[in-house]
Amino acid sequence: MLSKKLVMLVSTIALTYGAQVLADDNAVTRGEEVYDDCSICHGDYAEGGEDYGAPKLAGQLDWYLVRQIQNFRDEIRGTHKDDEFGPVMQPMAVDLDDQAIDDVVAYIMTLDASVDADQE
Ligand code: HEC
Repeated sequence: MLSKKLVMLVSTIALTYGAQVLADDNAVTRGEEVYDDCSICHGDYAEGGEDYGAPKLAGQLDWYLVRQIQNFRDEIRGTHKDDEFGPVMQPMAVDLDDQAIDDVVAYIMTLDASVDADQE
């Protein structure tokens, strides 16, 4: 009896964990598609690029990236008339809902942060 319970417990944990991993994988896959629109300025590895004034994103803390993208979207950042680079980024965020932002940041977190901007 005990071992049957144990088997059930173990399989429940395995199923829950498996579903979690699958959900994260889907976020990364969706995020990769979102990132298609970002790589022209931020680079394929989110290494950044001075040509566009775009900072490196790889290796940054995930919650900080989420907050900055939301700030751009909500016009808290990137709308000052004297700001040269903020208004370049701001329109890129307007169509992203919270899910898309979480997804694109999940994808950025998978990128190799050791790639330098001038190395490509
Ligand atoms: C047309 C070029 C361009 C595109 C495309 C672009 N960005 Fe940016 N991004 C910038 C620039 C320029 C800045 C710097 C803004 C500033 O100086 O305030 C920036 C800043 C950011 C920041 C803030 C980083 C920090 O350290 O504060 C994040 C996060 C970001 N971009 C994410 C994205 C994402 C996600 C996408 C795609 C949906 C994207 N960007 C598309 C040019 C771009």
